[in-house]
Amino acid sequence: MKVKNICCIGAGYVGGPTMAVIAQKCPEINVTVVDINEDRIAAWNNEDVEKIPVYEPGLPAVVKEARGKNLFFSTNVDAAIDAAELIFISVNTPTKTYGIGKGMAADLKWIELCARQIARVSRTDKIIVEKSTLPVRTAAALREILDNTGNGVKYQILSNPEFLAEGTAIQDLLNPDRVLIGGDVQSTEGQEAISALSGIYEKWVPKSKILTTNVWSSELSKLTANAFLAQRVSSINAMSELCEVTGADVTEVAKAIGMDSRIGSKFLNSSVGFGGSCFQKDILNLVYIAQSFGLKEVAEYWEQVIIMNDYQKKRFAANIIQTLYNTVSGKKITILGWAFKKDTNDTRESAAIYVVDHLLNEEANITVYDPKVQSEQIFSDLDYLKSRSKEANRSNLKVVHDPYEACKNSHAIAVLTEWEEFKGYDWERIYQNMLKPAFVFDGRNLLDIQELIKIGFVPKGVGKPEFMESFAAKPAMVG
Ligand SMILES: NC(=O)c1ccc[n+]([C@@H]2O[C@H](COP(=O)([O-])OP(=O)(O)OC[C@H]3O[C@@H](n4cnc5c(N)ncnc54)[C@H](O)[C@@H]3O)[C@@H](O)[C@H]2O)c1
Repeated sequence: MKVKNICCIGAGYVGGPTMAVIAQKCPEINVTVVDINEDRIAAWNNEDVEKIPVYEPGLPAVVKEARGKNLFFSTNVDAAIDAAELIFISVNTPTKTYGIGKGMAADLKWIELCARQIARVSRTDKIIVEKSTLPVRTAAALREILDNTGNGVKYQILSNPEFLAEGTAIQDLLNPDRVLIGGDVQSTEGQEAISALSGIYEKWVPKSKILTTNVWSSELSKLTANAFLAQRVSSINAMSELCEVTGADVTEVAKAIGMDSRIGSKFLNSSVGFGGSCFQKDILNLVYIAQSFGLKEVAEYWEQVIIMNDYQKKRFAANIIQTLYNTVSGKKITILGWAFKKDTNDTRESAAIYVVDHLLNEEANITVYDPKVQSEQIFSDLDYLKSRSKEANRSNLKVVHDPYEACKNSHAIAVLTEWEEFKGYDWERIYQNMLKPAFVFDGRNLLDIQELIKIGFVPKGVGKPEFMESFAAKPAMVG
């Protein structure tokens, strides 16, 4: 099947950047990204490409190159489905917040709606590609919905999970470690569909990096990849607490173990804990699937990754309270960074939300500065937790747009996102304007602790020893 028109349902952090890159690399294919969220589509169509709804380095240039030529953003979902030979489903699959599987299973409501809409609208054969992260065996449910319409349209269902990381999405898309395509490898039609999708990626990805598997392996590989990545963060975070009480330094430990080629150096930065829309929901989903198959030990093993991550966030907040003489009531605490990681405006599951919620429970006065996150987003993240009234969130938390203003008259600063710009601040100036002792809690081990100490700060990193004891031999006792 020759693909001339692609439709992508879902113009989010995955759909937008992924389709922009496909459009840029395949100028002969028309790519239409559709969404039911009118504001989001309007923002993707904003004349000023710096104002598109997803902040991602390098993305504005790619959008600028392709938009209006062969890349389109639209709310007309039916028309885009009808015209496409290949449809990516890239809608959200959050953790269920109700009913059976509440708090663990993936909510597949939006996926099912897409399938039903495709079944209703389609008049020609189509390749349906699962781009969203889905529980293993979702393709079977999609097939049932699509095959039961009785209109004679034939569908091939492929799984093509996305491995991009926010903040480096464009680089990850342009130069992926691998592209994974799961399909019906047994049938000729299945193989043709796989080649059609593979052909698109082959425009810029070496064939050796395009991996073909059966559908279930592909679906499960995405959950497995995220579970393994998150597990590394929780593992090093578990060691961070041990470092703090023994005098070891987690950065040194991470470097020492990371140089072992069997372990590798990536994803070994200890921090306040991982965030983002994916790790937690995908592991919970994995735990739920394992439980559903009665695999208790497997479920418990992976659940521990989440338990450790939650503990790390609580521990960080508790450390602030304890260090500030066991009370933060009425004290100004400055939060530098609200995004779940640097170079993105995404705040989903950001550690900052939970740390600040904890501090607000202790009646702290919070001031937040983040270079890319809007204040409405910060308030809506806190309101979502329903820990207190919306009014209380707004009276106890202030969002400011100048970092120096944010830190002025503060009792303590907590760095919760690893934005590069924080390193370059005039820390001397910040120190002069703070209350003393001037505490800095570096939840990302981003700042130069020795420099801060020289200025006069009392800094605390994650997994950093409380004291620098000398290990010199004591003089022998004489007489
Ligand atoms: N964000 C990441 O870094 C990342 C990485 C890899 C995989 N994923 C997976 O990709 C999927 C999408 O993630 P995201 O971060 O882009 O989500 P997102 O919430 O940013 O975007 C999803 C979009 O889908 C739209 N949508 C939902 N139902 C729709 C429907 N029926 N018709 C049209 N539009 C609809 C929503 O309005 C929303 O704009 C998820 O399954 C996620 O797990 C995300």
